[in-house]
Amino acid sequence: MNDIQILGEIPLYGELCTQGSKNAVLPVMAASLLHKGITVIENVPRIQDVRCMVKILEKLGAVVSWQDHHMEIDAAHLTCSEIPLDYVKQMRSSIMVLGPLVARMGQAVTYYPGGCSIGKRPVDYHVKLLRDLGITVEECDGRIEAKAEKYRGTGLYLDFPSVGATENAIMAAVGAEGETVIHGCAKEPEIVELCLFLDEMGAQTKGAGTDTIHVRGMEGKRDPHYHVCGDRIVAGTYLAAAAATGGEICLTDAPVSYMKSTLRALASCGCQLRTEEKKVWLKAPDRLKPLPFLETEVYPGFPTDMQSVFLALLCMAKGDSVIRENIFEGRFETAGELRRMGADIEVEGRQARIHAGGRLRGANVTARDLRGGAALIVAGLAAEGETVVCHCEHVDRGYERITEDLSLLGARIRRRKNQEEEHPVL
Ligand code: UD1
Repeated sequence: MNDIQILGEIPLYGELCTQGSKNAVLPVMAASLLHKGITVIENVPRIQDVRCMVKILEKLGAVVSWQDHHMEIDAAHLTCSEIPLDYVKQMRSSIMVLGPLVARMGQAVTYYPGGCSIGKRPVDYHVKLLRDLGITVEECDGRIEAKAEKYRGTGLYLDFPSVGATENAIMAAVGAEGETVIHGCAKEPEIVELCLFLDEMGAQTKGAGTDTIHVRGMEGKRDPHYHVCGDRIVAGTYLAAAAATGGEICLTDAPVSYMKSTLRALASCGCQLRTEEKKVWLKAPDRLKPLPFLETEVYPGFPTDMQSVFLALLCMAKGDSVIRENIFEGRFETAGELRRMGADIEVEGRQARIHAGGRLRGANVTARDLRGGAALIVAGLAAEGETVVCHCEHVDRGYERITEDLSLLGARIRRRKNQEEEHPVL
């Protein structure tokens, strides 16, 4: 049990440094398996998903040292090619280890991760791309076994621009002889970051950030040194929190060029924004404007990972808004929790209509997934009275120090572990 207690209606003010990106560092850590030497990664966020990836790498035989935000991974000698089921269950994105592991070891075993609260999340695209590369993949009773001796680069085609499947295919292609051309790729910034890292390691990639990526295996191998970019979703969450509370904040180390659609949506809500390289400043309006239609899309569209946070934010707007979720079919669970706080949200299939109305009131609510939990914290900051968000272990998967960061901005927020503290916030 890991609860967060918030006293709401306090505008956020001040300056914060943005943590390193979860979705950028996880594939880079997986890709370190391709290198028989030492990988150095800076600005690594101290979050639960990274801890889980460290455990996976260690189980495979890598030696990981991690101090503050500096990590070194020595993958010179791997001893195992099976990703333990426990870690697959903890972190669905462990599937991205499959490609680099089979490329490095000639075989790899993982497990089918199953459904989760934001949708079914199958791994069929990952499996298809590995097979198309000439890797044998067998699936039996939830176990996925990949085997390959030598395989040659070829043309690969994605039916949908899945981020994880694109990353897996790129990493597996590093192990192929010759060139692989991947068509229909996702264009998310984390793919650009992964390719920058692989190039630093001695692979040759071209086209990251477009829908066609060329990958050549490693020729001149060298120990890579990589600095993780700021987390665009964490930055977006804090900006939304400032907007929801009528505050004014500045974020440093924010990946501004990767955040355009989120910044556009905040501006449409009436927020004033100013950006410099890696710096964004937001001032909330007196009353937020509604968004008549906001839909999640693949990059560079509005990110699905910001959807729940905007669901909370738009409860504070002066007028009705509509959000359409196009990426994950089950991502409106947070609406039910927001209703407990007085929100008037109607969900029909992939669409949520947020009716303007009364203010949010503090309540006991439950985080059901990472971003949904962050959204409830944003709602709690804006709501009248006290909110307790239960099961914030979901939030800790991606936010390094959410209570400390928000406290620095003036929020009255704290953790309540194991139910031992029952008294009100401060
Ligand atoms: C990544 C991000 C996640 C983000 C998502 C979409 C990481 C660690 N996670 O997740 O935060 O929300 O991108 O931007 O980077 N799909 C299939 N079959 C597959 C793979 C995906 O049907 O084999 C479907 C999914 O169920 C989903 C859609 O494709 O509906 C997009 O998923 P995908 O882009 O793969 O997301 P992830 O890589 O899992």
